[in-house]
Amino acid sequence: MSPARTSAAAPTAAARHENGAPARAAPDPLNAVRCVGVHKSYHLGGQDVHALRGVDLDISEPGFYAIMGASGSGKSTLLHLLGALDTPDRGEVSVGGKSLSKLGERELTDFRRDNIGIVFQQFNLIPTLTARENVELPGMLAGRAGPHLRARAEELLEALGVARRAGHRPDALSGGEQQRVAIARALLFAPRILLADEPTGNLDSASSARLWELLARIAREHTTTVLMVTHEPAAAVHCGRVFVLRDGRVHGSIDTEGLDAAGVASCYQHLVRSA
Ligand SMILES: Nc1ncnc2c1ncn2[C@@H]1O[C@H](COP(=O)(O)OP(=O)(O)OP(=O)(O)O)[C@@H](O)[C@H]1O
Ligand SMILES: [Mg+2]
Repeated sequence: MSPARTSAAAPTAAARHENGAPARAAPDPLNAVRCVGVHKSYHLGGQDVHALRGVDLDISEPGFYAIMGASGSGKSTLLHLLGALDTPDRGEVSVGGKSLSKLGERELTDFRRDNIGIVFQQFNLIPTLTARENVELPGMLAGRAGPHLRARAEELLEALGVARRAGHRPDALSGGEQQRVAIARALLFAPRILLADEPTGNLDSASSARLWELLARIAREHTTTVLMVTHEPAAAVHCGRVFVLRDGRVHGSIDTEGLDAAGVASCYQHLVRSA
C-alpha cells in the first residue's frame, strides 16, 4: 500500500479515475458537495448519540465517489444531511452550490426535487405501480403529467436497460431490475447530484457489479456527482475516490486509480487503523 494513495484528514476530492469522472471534468457549483464542521446527534431514551462530530468534505467535480466506514460510523446520517432529508445540529452543508440551511421549507423541497436524486438499499418502489409509473411518479407529484413525462420515463428505462420491463410491477422484476427502475426514478429531473446508500445491499454479486458500472457511466455521461455509501472494496474500485468515515469525521480518502479491490481494502484498513 503506497502512503501516497491515502490522504489522512485531507478530504478534498480531485477526481482523476477514468471510471469515476471525465479526466478533466470542470468544477461546476452544480456538481459540488460540501460539508464544513458538520455535527449531528440523536437523542434517544435519555442518551445522546454523536453520529457526526465535525465532518469536512469537499467535492467540486462530477464523478463517482464512495463513502466507506464501519457500521455506525455515520455514513447514512451524512447522506441524509446531503439529501436534505435531515438537518445538522452545527456546521454547513451545501449541495449544488446552495447552502441548504439558507433555503426555506418550500425552496428546499423544490431544490431537492430538481437537483438531488436519492437511491436506497430497499429500492422503495410503489408495489401497485408499473416500472414506468414508478419512474413518472415524482413528475406526477410535481404536477408535470403528460406526454413529455412519459417520454422521459421511457428514455430513462431504455438507457438503464429495463425498457422491456416498463409495464411490469416491481414484484415481477429481479432485484437488479428494481434497483435500475429506482435509479431511473432518481434521475427523472436530471439531478447533478445522485446519492446512493448501499444501493447493492440487496443484490447478488453479478447484479451488484453491473449496477456499479451503471453508476460510473451515469457519472461520466450525465456529468453527475454520484456519491455512494458502500461496505464493499469491490464497489469502491469503480469510484475515483473513497472517503473514509471514522468516529463521525472524514478521516481520510483513497485515490483508487490503478487499485483492485484488495488494494482498496488494504488502503482502507490502513486508514481506519491510523491515528
Ligand atoms: N434515528 C436515529 N435515532 C437514534 N440514533 C440514530 C438514528 N439514526 C442513526 N443513529 C445512530 O447514529 C449512529 C450513526 O448511524 P448511521 O446509520 O449513520 O451509521 P452507518 O454508518 O450508516 O451504519 P451502517 O453501516 O450500519 O448502515 C449510530 O450509532 C446509530 O445508532
Ligand atoms: Mg447506513
